[in-house]
Amino acid sequence: MRIFEQLESEVRGYVRAFPAVFDVARGSHLYDEHDNRYIDFFAGAGTLNYGHNNPAISQALIAYLQRDGIVHALDKATVAKKNFLQKFQDTILARRNLNYKVQFTGPTGTNAVETALKLARMVKKRSNVIAFTNGYHGLTMGSLAVTGNDFYRDESYGARNNADSVPYDGYLGPDTDTIAYLRKFLADGSSGIDLPAAIIVETVQGEGGINVASIEWLQQLEALCREFDILLIIDDIQMGNGRTGTFFSFERAGLKPDMVTLSKSIGGGLPMAILLMRPELDQWRPGEHTGTFRGNNLAFVAATEALGYWDNDDFATGVQYKGEIMREELERIVAKYPQLAIELRGIGMVWGLDMGQRPGFAAEVSAEAFANKLVIELAGAEDNVVKFLPALTIEEEVLREGLAIVDAAIGNLLARSEEARRGVVA
Ligand SMILES: Cc1ncc(COP(=O)(O)O)c(C=O)c1O
Repeated sequence: MRIFEQLESEVRGYVRAFPAVFDVARGSHLYDEHDNRYIDFFAGAGTLNYGHNNPAISQALIAYLQRDGIVHALDKATVAKKNFLQKFQDTILARRNLNYKVQFTGPTGTNAVETALKLARMVKKRSNVIAFTNGYHGLTMGSLAVTGNDFYRDESYGARNNADSVPYDGYLGPDTDTIAYLRKFLADGSSGIDLPAAIIVETVQGEGGINVASIEWLQQLEALCREFDILLIIDDIQMGNGRTGTFFSFERAGLKPDMVTLSKSIGGGLPMAILLMRPELDQWRPGEHTGTFRGNNLAFVAATEALGYWDNDDFATGVQYKGEIMREELERIVAKYPQLAIELRGIGMVWGLDMGQRPGFAAEVSAEAFANKLVIELAGAEDNVVKFLPALTIEEEVLREGLAIVDAAIGNLLARSEEARRGVVA
């Protein structure tokens, strides 16, 4: 670890939670430099929905490199990009009756968000955008302005420009209709909120703590956008690509967003991000929004291969099946430890155990799980949620093995704290 401590910036984060030097990865397993095997319930924060080094993807990449397929091409036309666009159109858009143009942005999620916000402002000629409490959209200046958690922001960045934050579904408790609240603000010229160009939202907040918006809430939000001529941007960077059980997370609510941001698993594990937009919104002049790494042809090759999982419904059925296993097992864990008053939230193959009733306990669970060779991260404003984000391709036995490690970690921690308490009393 010495070289990392000596040379790498203090900003490094995950290495502190998972202090091992990883070397090899296959499917849902990671191996460190000493060949210790870990189960991965983190999946690159949603980038590895198809697993590490998915054999079909790796084979396609090796074959492409061996025939000297072009790797970097800016936004020139390439066979790899042509194949991706055709596959995406045939397998994803056409089958869902969606009509979008595709813009390749810089290769990370925040690039797609920046692009969406910029385009929305350009088209609507309004500078304001609205986002939601606990939302996470990235950490460059425009996306930071619509990210909720103040851990990432500092007033000195001036990053709050032209963005308002309003309550997400459930934020004010189950009895408050936050859409009615927002409608009042939009309708009232004296509310202090400018009519926005766009509203950006995650249908399930990932980093924000696995908060699942209801179907009704999402539909009302879409209707509100139509009513006030506001563009609806769904940020599907973490929850898209099958995570919630359908390719897009908004399919369960039947939404037709004006724009959709996709990244993480769209590149089959390689850096790639895209913005989908209704064709009328595509008002860019050629080259007006550019960037050197928009044409990651290796990612196009990987992405095209990964989209093969969506040729029929088998993959989505598998996600729903394994999601049920997760729900059942996690419900069992919640019931087993009533003293923790854990709240379970989730959908598809993304679940969270909110342990906020006992501050710091979620971090202890993650650390204890890691000691037992499971990589699992935290989410939520106070890192209060243990977040289950396995690869969608995970084998059922490995999934169950990982869930059992979390169960045992909670049991061990509680037993140890009980022992410590008895020791103090004695
Ligand atoms: C919903 C959402 N939007 C945007 C981002 C930012 O993506 P990136 O970290 O690739 O910039 C993330 C990252 O976690 C995300 O979850």
